[in-house]
Amino acid sequence: MKKQVIVLSGAGISAESGISTFRDSGGLWEQHRIEDVATFEAWERNRKLVQEFYNLRRKQLHEVAPNAGHKELVRLEQAYNVQIITQNVDDLHERAGSTHVLHLHGELKKARSTVNPDYVVELEGWELKEGDVCPQGGQLRPHIVWFGEAVPMIEPAAELCAKADVCIVVGTSLNVYPAAGLVSYVPRHAPKYVVDPGEVQAQVPNVTYIREKASTGLKKVVDELLKKENFS
Ligand code: OAD
Repeated sequence: MKKQVIVLSGAGISAESGISTFRDSGGLWEQHRIEDVATFEAWERNRKLVQEFYNLRRKQLHEVAPNAGHKELVRLEQAYNVQIITQNVDDLHERAGSTHVLHLHGELKKARSTVNPDYVVELEGWELKEGDVCPQGGQLRPHIVWFGEAVPMIEPAAELCAKADVCIVVGTSLNVYPAAGLVSYVPRHAPKYVVDPGEVQAQVPNVTYIREKASTGLKKVVDELLKKENFS
Protein backbone atom coordinates (compact mmCIF):
# COMPACT_ATOMS: atom_id res chain seq x y z
CA MET A 1 0.00 0.00 0.00
CA LYS A 2 1.20 3.51 -0.77
CA LYS A 3 2.33 5.68 2.13
CA GLN A 4 0.29 8.72 3.04
CA VAL A 5 1.80 12.19 2.53
CA ILE A 6 -0.02 15.15 4.02
CA VAL A 7 0.79 18.54 2.50
CA LEU A 8 -0.17 21.62 4.49
CA SER A 9 -0.02 24.49 2.00
CA GLY A 10 -0.46 28.24 2.27
CA ALA A 11 -0.25 31.39 0.18
CA GLY A 12 3.49 30.98 -0.50
CA ILE A 13 2.97 28.04 -2.85
CA SER A 14 0.95 30.29 -5.16
CA ALA A 15 3.38 33.24 -4.95
CA GLU A 16 5.35 32.08 -8.00
CA SER A 17 2.09 32.06 -9.96
CA GLY A 18 1.80 35.80 -9.24
CA ILE A 19 -0.69 35.72 -6.36
CA SER A 20 0.29 37.90 -3.39
CA THR A 21 0.78 36.32 0.01
CA PHE A 22 -0.83 37.97 3.05
CA ARG A 23 1.93 38.76 5.53
CA ASP A 24 5.09 39.21 3.44
CA SER A 25 6.19 42.77 2.79
CA GLY A 26 3.81 44.16 0.14
CA GLY A 27 1.33 41.39 0.99
CA LEU A 28 -2.45 41.70 0.91
CA TRP A 29 -2.84 42.57 4.60
CA GLU A 30 -0.54 45.57 4.10
CA GLN A 31 -2.94 46.94 1.50
CA HIS A 32 -6.25 46.06 3.17
CA ARG A 33 -7.28 45.80 6.78
CA ILE A 34 -8.57 42.35 7.72
CA GLU A 35 -11.45 43.92 9.61
CA ASP A 36 -12.51 45.87 6.48
CA VAL A 37 -12.71 42.94 4.07
CA ALA A 38 -12.42 39.55 5.78
CA THR A 39 -14.96 39.42 8.60
CA PHE A 40 -18.72 38.97 8.72
CA GLU A 41 -18.99 42.40 10.38
CA ALA A 42 -17.27 43.94 7.34
CA TRP A 43 -19.79 42.20 5.08
CA GLU A 44 -22.66 43.66 7.08
CA ARG A 45 -21.10 47.12 7.24
CA ASN A 46 -19.79 47.53 3.69
CA ARG A 47 -20.85 44.71 1.44
CA LYS A 48 -19.73 46.51 -1.71
CA LEU A 49 -16.13 46.77 -0.51
CA VAL A 50 -16.03 43.09 0.52
CA GLN A 51 -17.53 41.97 -2.82
CA GLU A 52 -15.02 44.14 -4.69
CA PHE A 53 -12.09 42.69 -2.73
CA TYR A 54 -13.06 39.08 -3.54
CA ASN A 55 -14.14 39.90 -7.10
CA LEU A 56 -10.65 41.24 -7.74
CA ARG A 57 -9.04 38.15 -6.22
CA ARG A 58 -11.31 35.96 -8.38
CA LYS A 59 -10.57 37.97 -11.52
CA GLN A 60 -6.85 37.57 -10.88
CA LEU A 61 -7.30 33.83 -10.41
CA HIS A 62 -8.62 33.58 -13.97
CA GLU A 63 -5.38 35.19 -15.18
CA VAL A 64 -2.82 32.96 -13.46
CA ALA A 65 -1.70 29.35 -13.78
CA PRO A 66 -0.24 26.66 -11.48
CA ASN A 67 3.54 26.82 -11.06
CA ALA A 68 6.33 24.25 -10.74
CA GLY A 69 5.68 23.88 -6.99
CA HIS A 70 2.08 22.77 -7.51
CA LYS A 71 3.27 20.38 -10.23
CA GLU A 72 5.90 18.77 -7.99
CA LEU A 73 3.10 17.67 -5.64
CA VAL A 74 1.33 16.02 -8.58
CA ARG A 75 4.56 14.16 -9.45
CA LEU A 76 4.63 12.78 -5.92
CA GLU A 77 1.32 10.96 -6.53
CA GLN A 78 3.04 8.25 -8.60
CA ALA A 79 4.52 6.77 -5.41
CA TYR A 80 2.37 8.09 -2.53
CA ASN A 81 -1.18 8.86 -1.55
CA VAL A 82 -0.96 12.62 -1.41
CA GLN A 83 -3.58 14.55 0.53
CA ILE A 84 -3.30 18.32 0.28
CA ILE A 85 -4.81 20.41 3.05
CA THR A 86 -4.65 24.00 1.89
CA GLN A 87 -5.42 27.34 3.48
CA ASN A 88 -5.54 28.77 -0.03
CA VAL A 89 -8.81 29.75 -1.62
CA ASP A 90 -7.40 29.49 -5.15
CA ASP A 91 -7.81 26.34 -7.26
CA LEU A 92 -4.22 26.01 -8.45
CA HIS A 93 -3.61 22.63 -6.79
CA GLU A 94 -6.63 21.19 -8.64
CA ARG A 95 -5.66 22.83 -11.93
CA ALA A 96 -2.14 21.40 -11.61
CA GLY A 97 -3.72 17.93 -11.31
CA SER A 98 -3.63 17.07 -7.59
CA THR A 99 -6.47 14.65 -6.88
CA HIS A 100 -7.08 15.06 -3.12
CA VAL A 101 -7.41 18.69 -2.06
CA LEU A 102 -9.17 19.85 1.09
CA HIS A 103 -9.80 23.60 1.41
CA LEU A 104 -9.78 24.84 4.99
CA HIS A 105 -10.64 28.48 4.29
CA GLY A 106 -13.13 28.05 1.45
CA GLU A 107 -12.89 28.50 -2.30
CA LEU A 108 -12.82 31.74 -4.28
CA LYS A 109 -14.66 30.31 -7.25
CA LYS A 110 -17.65 29.33 -5.12
CA ALA A 111 -20.46 31.35 -3.54
CA ARG A 112 -22.68 30.47 -0.61
CA SER A 113 -26.16 31.53 0.40
CA THR A 114 -26.46 33.80 3.42
CA VAL A 115 -29.73 32.10 4.43
CA ASN A 116 -28.80 28.47 3.72
CA PRO A 117 -25.13 27.60 4.37
CA ASP A 118 -25.57 24.25 2.56
CA TYR A 119 -26.33 26.07 -0.69
CA VAL A 120 -22.91 26.42 -2.35
CA VAL A 121 -22.51 27.07 -6.07
CA GLU A 122 -19.63 27.29 -8.51
CA LEU A 123 -19.47 30.76 -10.10
CA GLU A 124 -19.19 30.99 -13.86
CA GLY A 125 -17.34 34.28 -14.20
CA TRP A 126 -15.29 36.28 -11.74
CA GLU A 127 -17.96 38.64 -10.50
CA LEU A 128 -20.34 38.10 -7.60
CA LYS A 129 -22.91 40.89 -7.50
CA GLU A 130 -25.49 42.43 -5.23
CA GLY A 131 -28.76 40.75 -6.20
CA ASP A 132 -27.19 37.36 -6.99
CA VAL A 133 -29.38 35.20 -4.80
CA CYS A 134 -30.08 31.57 -3.93
CA PRO A 135 -33.45 29.94 -4.84
CA GLN A 136 -34.81 31.08 -1.45
CA GLY A 137 -33.91 34.68 -2.25
CA GLY A 138 -30.89 35.00 0.07
CA GLN A 139 -27.94 37.07 -1.14
CA LEU A 140 -24.90 35.00 -2.15
CA ARG A 141 -21.63 35.71 -0.32
CA PRO A 142 -18.06 34.58 -1.08
CA HIS A 143 -17.52 30.95 0.04
CA ILE A 144 -14.66 32.03 2.31
CA VAL A 145 -14.06 31.35 5.98
CA TRP A 146 -13.68 34.83 7.42
CA PHE A 147 -11.85 35.76 10.60
CA GLY A 148 -14.01 34.97 13.60
CA GLU A 149 -15.95 32.26 11.74
CA ALA A 150 -15.82 28.52 12.44
CA VAL A 151 -13.59 26.34 10.25
CA PRO A 152 -15.91 23.42 9.39
CA MET A 153 -13.19 21.29 7.74
CA ILE A 154 -10.76 21.39 10.66
CA GLU A 155 -11.85 18.08 12.20
CA PRO A 156 -11.58 15.99 9.03
CA ALA A 157 -8.24 17.72 8.39
CA ALA A 158 -6.93 16.80 11.85
CA GLU A 159 -8.02 13.18 11.34
CA LEU A 160 -6.11 13.03 8.05
CA CYS A 161 -3.00 14.52 9.69
CA ALA A 162 -3.06 11.84 12.39
CA LYS A 163 -2.65 9.19 9.65
CA ALA A 164 0.33 10.81 7.94
CA ASP A 165 3.51 8.85 7.22
CA VAL A 166 5.20 12.02 5.95
CA CYS A 167 4.20 15.69 6.17
CA ILE A 168 5.21 18.64 3.98
CA VAL A 169 4.45 22.18 5.14
CA VAL A 170 4.84 24.69 2.32
CA GLY A 171 4.31 28.44 1.98
CA THR A 172 2.50 29.18 5.21
CA SER A 173 3.68 31.51 7.98
CA LEU A 174 1.81 29.26 10.49
CA ASN A 175 0.22 32.37 11.97
CA VAL A 176 -3.46 31.57 11.61
CA TYR A 177 -5.18 29.08 13.93
CA PRO A 178 -6.66 26.51 13.94
CA ALA A 179 -4.91 25.71 10.61
CA ALA A 180 -1.44 26.31 12.06
CA GLY A 181 -2.07 23.72 14.77
CA LEU A 182 -2.67 20.86 12.31
CA VAL A 183 1.00 19.92 12.07
CA SER A 184 0.91 18.87 15.74
CA TYR A 185 -1.60 16.10 14.85
CA VAL A 186 1.00 14.46 12.59
CA PRO A 187 2.61 11.49 14.43
CA ARG A 188 5.90 12.30 16.17
CA HIS A 189 7.88 9.71 14.20
CA ALA A 190 6.69 10.95 10.79
CA PRO A 191 9.34 12.95 8.90
CA LYS A 192 8.26 16.56 8.34
CA TYR A 193 9.62 19.02 5.79
CA VAL A 194 9.06 22.77 5.95
CA VAL A 195 9.59 24.45 2.58
CA ASP A 196 9.62 28.23 2.92
CA PRO A 197 12.18 30.95 2.14
CA GLY A 198 11.19 32.69 5.39
CA GLU A 199 12.05 31.86 8.99
CA VAL A 200 8.98 29.70 9.69
CA GLN A 201 9.31 27.40 12.70
CA ALA A 202 7.10 24.35 13.21
CA GLN A 203 7.08 23.48 16.91
CA VAL A 204 7.12 19.70 16.35
CA PRO A 205 9.78 16.94 16.35
CA ASN A 206 11.50 15.48 13.30
CA VAL A 207 11.53 18.53 10.99
CA THR A 208 13.86 19.30 8.09
CA TYR A 209 13.84 22.95 6.99
CA ILE A 210 14.32 23.82 3.34
CA ARG A 211 14.68 27.60 3.15
CA GLU A 212 13.75 27.91 -0.50
CA LYS A 213 10.88 28.86 -2.74
CA ALA A 214 8.22 26.24 -3.36
CA SER A 215 9.40 25.43 -6.90
CA THR A 216 12.99 24.49 -6.03
CA GLY A 217 12.35 23.40 -2.42
CA LEU A 218 9.55 20.99 -3.32
CA LYS A 219 11.62 19.52 -6.14
CA LYS A 220 14.27 18.53 -3.57
CA VAL A 221 11.71 17.02 -1.19
CA VAL A 222 9.86 15.16 -3.93
CA ASP A 223 13.09 13.79 -5.44
CA GLU A 224 14.10 12.51 -2.00
CA LEU A 225 10.71 10.94 -1.24
CA LEU A 226 10.45 9.27 -4.65
CA LYS A 227 13.95 7.85 -4.26
CA LYS A 228 12.98 6.33 -0.90
CA GLU A 229 10.21 4.39 -2.65
CA ASN A 230 12.48 3.45 -5.59
CA PHE A 231 10.84 5.84 -8.04
CA SER A 232 12.70 8.60 -9.83
P1 OAD B 1 1.08 34.20 4.87
O1 OAD B 1 1.09 35.38 3.97
O2 OAD B 1 0.85 34.43 6.31
O3 OAD B 1 2.48 33.42 4.75
C1 OAD B 1 3.03 33.16 3.49
C2 OAD B 1 4.29 32.32 3.66
O4 OAD B 1 4.76 32.01 2.36
C3 OAD B 1 5.43 33.04 4.39
O5 OAD B 1 5.97 32.18 5.38
C4 OAD B 1 6.45 33.30 3.26
O6 OAD B 1 7.79 33.27 3.73
C5 OAD B 1 6.16 32.16 2.33
N1 OAD B 1 6.56 32.36 0.91
C6 OAD B 1 6.67 33.52 0.21
N2 OAD B 1 7.04 33.26 -1.06
C7 OAD B 1 7.15 31.90 -1.17
C8 OAD B 1 7.50 31.00 -2.23
N3 OAD B 1 7.79 31.43 -3.46
N4 OAD B 1 7.51 29.67 -1.96
C9 OAD B 1 7.20 29.21 -0.71
N5 OAD B 1 6.87 30.01 0.32
C10 OAD B 1 6.85 31.34 0.10
O7 OAD B 1 0.03 33.17 4.26
P2 OAD B 1 -0.74 31.95 4.94
O8 OAD B 1 0.08 31.31 6.01
O9 OAD B 1 -1.27 31.09 3.85
O10 OAD B 1 -6.97 33.41 5.55
O11 OAD B 1 -1.96 32.71 5.62
C11 OAD B 1 -2.91 31.99 6.33
C12 OAD B 1 -4.27 32.64 6.22
O12 OAD B 1 -4.18 34.01 6.58
C13 OAD B 1 -4.84 32.66 4.81
O13 OAD B 1 -5.49 31.47 4.47
C14 OAD B 1 -5.79 33.82 4.84
C15 OAD B 1 -4.94 34.80 5.62
O14 OAD B 1 -5.59 35.77 6.32
C16 OAD B 1 -8.14 34.04 5.32
O15 OAD B 1 -8.26 34.97 4.55
C17 OAD B 1 -9.28 33.48 6.10
